[in-house]
Amino acid sequence: MDGIITDALTKNYGSLCAVDGLTLKAENEIYGLLGPNGSGKTTTVRMLTTLLSATSGSAEVCGYDIEKEKSQVRSCISYVPQDMAVDIRLTGRENVDLFAKLYGIRDKAERKRIVADALEVVNLTDRADSMTKTYSGGMKRRLELAQALVHQPRVLFLDEPTIGLDVASRRTIWEHITKLKKSGMTILVTTHQMEEAERYCNRVGIIRRGKLIKEGTPAFLKADLKKEIITIRSDGSLPQSLPAGATFIETNESGFIFSADKGSNIMPELTAAFESAGSHVIYSSIREPNLEDVYMQSCGDDRGDNIPFDDRQFRNLMTRR
Ligand SMILES: Nc1ncnc2c1ncn2[C@@H]1O[C@H](COP(=O)(O)OP(=O)(O)OP(=O)(O)O)[C@@H](O)[C@H]1O
Ligand SMILES: [Mg+2]
Repeated sequence: MDGIITDALTKNYGSLCAVDGLTLKAENEIYGLLGPNGSGKTTTVRMLTTLLSATSGSAEVCGYDIEKEKSQVRSCISYVPQDMAVDIRLTGRENVDLFAKLYGIRDKAERKRIVADALEVVNLTDRADSMTKTYSGGMKRRLELAQALVHQPRVLFLDEPTIGLDVASRRTIWEHITKLKKSGMTILVTTHQMEEAERYCNRVGIIRRGKLIKEGTPAFLKADLKKEIITIRSDGSLPQSLPAGATFIETNESGFIFSADKGSNIMPELTAAFESAGSHVIYSSIREPNLEDVYMQSCGDDRGDNIPFDDRQFRNLMTRR
């Protein structure tokens, strides 16, 4: 088995259960782990990369046990953490070279070639000899990816690879990830970007309070919702009484959002409800659900507000970008 397999993987921090009996499998695919702040994504990745011991349950990465065969696991994986920092006093090439040394590539000529290849993969060849402090946020993130690629891992863990990046850089990163998957790698990625997960992940798992609550291909999860999404914008407020069959989800910048089994059947009644409450419907639309709708239905009421503000992580993020 060249991927990841977990069985009831659990991590407690004192009385807090951060990861609660997680059972999943990922092989030769881009597997997206989605969930609110504090739902246990990073904790899961840290256990699978052997940086943290599990409280109970088990997992194998590339066929090796994460507790009993830590060094074998480490030899076949790479990890780009959520808040990793490149060394800004070094050039891009020096940063990657440092990693190649850490991974034990001793032969100088071989290391030179591998470092150059990794920089090429992430399109940093032109700027490889500039000091990293002159890099943009996107370039630094790409450099971190290059560092993770120096030893050709079989399983790659990426914790929020596109955080803080512009649209073009996000796309570049995902294109690299897709290429790596095509070369046979298994990639486990965490993200809060639903559109990106929908577009690039082969399968996703939604984790909430440490538990896997939904899993499947984005297409399957959307179809499984069996709902259409209705948007109504009006010059008044939400009517007190709504037709049975329309479920109010939220108010956002587009208007009032509802879900319904069959949007076109319920639309006339819904519009009438607004009119009889004395408001005028300015705009209405019906669309198929997207992955964000699936996510909102599973975790929409969990905004991670129970999580204390992580000052250290915030400062790290600010110095990096
Ligand atoms: N070292 C630690 N000691 C105590 N509690 C911790 C520790 N690390 C994480 N936690 C807690 O475990 C829970 C899961 O945290 P984790 O970092 O795995 O969440 P996450 O899903 O990665 O969140 P985010 O989306 O914000 O990165 C949170 O409640 C967090 O406060
Ligand atoms: Mg995290």
